[in-house]
Amino acid sequence: MSYAEKRKFELAPDGINPVKVPFRTTRNGTRIPAIGLGTFGSDRFTADDISAAVIGAAEVGYRHFDCASVYGNEKQIGKSLKVILDGGIPREELHITSKVWNDRHDDVVNSCKQSLIDLGLGYLDLYLVHWPFPNFHAPGCDVDSRSPDAKPYIHENFMKTWTQMEELVNLGLVKEIGTSNVTIPKLKLILRDSRIKPAVSEMEQHPHFQQQELFDFVTSNGIIPIGFAPIGSPTRPDRDKTVLDTVDIEDPAITGPAKRLGVHPAVICVKWGQQRGQIPIPFSVRRNEYLSNLHGVVNDALTDEEMEAISRVDKNSRLIKGQVFLWKEEQTWEDLWDLSGEITAP
Ligand SMILES: NC(=O)c1ccc[n+]([C@@H]2O[C@H](COP(=O)([O-])OP(=O)(O)OC[C@H]3O[C@@H](n4cnc5c(N)ncnc54)[C@H](OP(=O)(O)O)[C@@H]3O)[C@@H](O)[C@H]2O)c1
Repeated sequence: MSYAEKRKFELAPDGINPVKVPFRTTRNGTRIPAIGLGTFGSDRFTADDISAAVIGAAEVGYRHFDCASVYGNEKQIGKSLKVILDGGIPREELHITSKVWNDRHDDVVNSCKQSLIDLGLGYLDLYLVHWPFPNFHAPGCDVDSRSPDAKPYIHENFMKTWTQMEELVNLGLVKEIGTSNVTIPKLKLILRDSRIKPAVSEMEQHPHFQQQELFDFVTSNGIIPIGFAPIGSPTRPDRDKTVLDTVDIEDPAITGPAKRLGVHPAVICVKWGQQRGQIPIPFSVRRNEYLSNLHGVVNDALTDEEMEAISRVDKNSRLIKGQVFLWKEEQTWEDLWDLSGEITAP
């Protein structure tokens, strides 16, 4: 039987009962499973590979899936969700995220409706503004490419996008809304001016890029942090690597606990993220990997000493730098991240 055929959905014998998976509760009372499956295959995996992994992950106990229109696979993932739902998993057990891409900041409602059609859902649990910059670039383009139409963050324009996000909640198309790739200065303004505050903020977070200040800011404002690239995206395409990038899974603070627990260092990165308080969304299409990541967040906590040691290995090593969003020739990627504490001037 192919993966896309209808069947009764049963937990795999080596899977984890979803009720045993820890969760985080948003300001509105929504319980989000504290680990999700990432679904961005970049140019390494096909949409079919990833949609097969969605079914496999649900079979081992995942209920939280991080999707986005720009990943180009929501139609195929929709077929997998249908298998899962037809197989008897109640819709309320799933937590499905999608995101509006940068070229649709003026057309959020239609973008969301398209994701709903593609995913075959009546509502999304969470919808995010994928990036705060309304800049289009071709998927998979080189990091040196620049759009002649690129624009900086203009708060007034972002709030027009956010108002459309709020409208989605009013329309019942999404349960909650959130930000992604935003900084403290941007979040301060968004919190000040929004009617519906972001329930979550998705951000890069792994042991070598902990973003402690941003983590503290969002949690103290009642926002749940969702950590992307939780393993440090070790097999990302070469075009996304620079000589300064560090490798989390080779760090002794990670390999030590991995040896103690007999797991791959990737699992320790995921465990650390969940234990620290963010929701990691590791990607994998390999059953042994997504299964061990799920086991990791349920079993065998890291010790206080191990958590403390990992907290000390932050190297401020941002991997997803966003160069393609720069809007002026002479800029560097740091300009996207408001390092001075102020939003970088247009
Ligand atoms: N909001 C945003 O702007 C944004 C940006 C980036 C990513 N994301 C989300 O975050 C998700 C994860 O990010 P990511 O894929 O870049 O990085 P990641 O999750 O840190 O790394 C994924 C890679 O780690 C390896 N891996 C996973 N589990 C493993 C295990 N147990 N043992 C050994 N290796 C393991 C896999 O390598 P192999 O494939 O080689 O096995 C996999 O491709 C994405 O899929 C996407 O949903 C969001």
